[in-house]
Amino acid sequence: MSARSTQWFEAARFGLFVHFELYSLAARHEWVRSREAMPDADYDRYLERFDPDLFDAAALARAARDAGMRYAVLTAKHHDGFCLFDSELTGYTSARVAGRDLVAEFAEAMRAEGLRVGLYYSLLDWRHPDFTIDRYHPLRDSVPPEEAAGRDMARYRAYMHGQVRELLTGYGPIDLLFFDFTYAEKGPADWGAEELMAMVRDLQPRIIVNDRLGIPGDYVTPEQYQPDRPLTRDGAEVMWEACHTLNGSWGYDRDNHDYKDPALLVRMLVQSVACGGNLLLNVGPTGRGALEPRAAHTLRAIGAWTSLHARTVHGAGPSAFEAPPNTLYTQRGDRLYLHLLTWPLKHVHLPGLAGRVRYAQLLHDGSEVRFHELDGGDHEHNNLAPPGRPPGTLTLTLPVVQPEVTLPVVELVLRDEGR
Ligand code: GLC
Repeated sequence: MSARSTQWFEAARFGLFVHFELYSLAARHEWVRSREAMPDADYDRYLERFDPDLFDAAALARAARDAGMRYAVLTAKHHDGFCLFDSELTGYTSARVAGRDLVAEFAEAMRAEGLRVGLYYSLLDWRHPDFTIDRYHPLRDSVPPEEAAGRDMARYRAYMHGQVRELLTGYGPIDLLFFDFTYAEKGPADWGAEELMAMVRDLQPRIIVNDRLGIPGDYVTPEQYQPDRPLTRDGAEVMWEACHTLNGSWGYDRDNHDYKDPALLVRMLVQSVACGGNLLLNVGPTGRGALEPRAAHTLRAIGAWTSLHARTVHGAGPSAFEAPPNTLYTQRGDRLYLHLLTWPLKHVHLPGLAGRVRYAQLLHDGSEVRFHELDGGDHEHNNLAPPGRPPGTLTLTLPVVQPEVTLPVVELVLRDEGR
C-alpha cells in the first residue's frame, strides 16, 4: 500500500465511531444478545420496533466536524448480524424493516461535511444460520446438537465476503474498513482473511484496513486502553488508532453513567498524537438513533478545545524532544506544542530547547510567552532552591492564573525543524 493513501489517516488523528444497531433499543450494551443468551425470537422484539426516526446523519457529521474529527466509522453490521445497509444477501437490514439504508445516508453526510468515510463490519454474526456456535454465541446453550453440527462456516464465509463486496461496490469510495474481531475460537482461516483482504484491496485500492482479521492490516487497534509510547511491530513503528467509549459501552447503555470527562478525552487525544497514533471516539445513539445529550455535550466540550488547538492535532505527530514531567509534546514541522497537564507556578523548564526557540505563545489567544535560557545556575537565586537546571534548558514564564481552556498549550516556533 502506498504511503500516499495512508497520509490522510495519520494527518486526521481524530475520528468518530458510531455504534447503532438493534441492541440500541435494548439500551444495555451491544453484547446484550450474547450476555443474556437470547434466542432469535426474543431478540426480534427489537427488530419489530426498529424505527430510527431520529437518526440524522447530517447532524452526526456536523457534530463530528465541530468536535475536530476528520473521519467517522459506522457499524454497517455488528455481532447481532443486523445490517444498516440494503443487502441482497439478507432481509435482516434497516432497509427492509425501516426503509432506510443508513450506510448510504452516513456516507453521503460525512462526505458532505468533508469527513472521510469508514465502515465497521463484524466478522461475528449471531443471526446467520451457518455461523458456528462458540462460547459467545447467544444460542450456545439452546441450539440442538444436530443443528449446531449442520452449521457450515464455508457458507457463512461466502455470505460475509459477499456483503463486504456489496459495501465496497455500492457506496462510492470507502476510506477505511474496521473488521471486528478475531478470538480464540475463530481466526483468519474462518474468515478467509487473506482472500477477503485481497478482494478489499482489489475493489478499493486506496482503502485503509485494520488488523482484526487476524492478519496484519494497515494499522493496529488498541481498544479501551491508552498507549503511552509509539507502538512497534518487529522493532518498526506501526500506525495505530486507540478506540474508546464514552462510558465503557459501545452501544447505547441507558443506565450507565460512567462517562469520561471531556478534559480526560482531550488528554487522551493529545497523548495519542504525542505517541504517533489516532483516537477513534465512540458514540452510541439512542434506540431512535439520536445522539444522547451527554454525548452531544461531550463532543461540544471537546470541540471548544479543538477549535482553538486544531494545529496541535491535525497533521501533527510525536516530537523527538523529550517532554518534561506533566506535559506532552506534539510537533508539526517547526512548531512544537507544549501541552500543560498541570498548571505550573510561573515557570516551566524545557530541557534541550535553549537556543532552539524563535518565539513562544499561548495557542488559544496568541499571547506571547516570554522565555529565557539558563546557564546551569540557580535562577531562583536562593540557596534553598532545587539544584540548577542543566545547561541547554529554556525557561518559560507563564501567568499565575491558568487560562480558561481545558488543556493549555504553548506553541513554540523552532529555529529549525528541531532535529
Ligand atoms: C469489541 C466488541 C465490540 C465493539 C468493538 C469496538 O470487539 O466486541 O462490541 O464493537 O470492540 O472496537
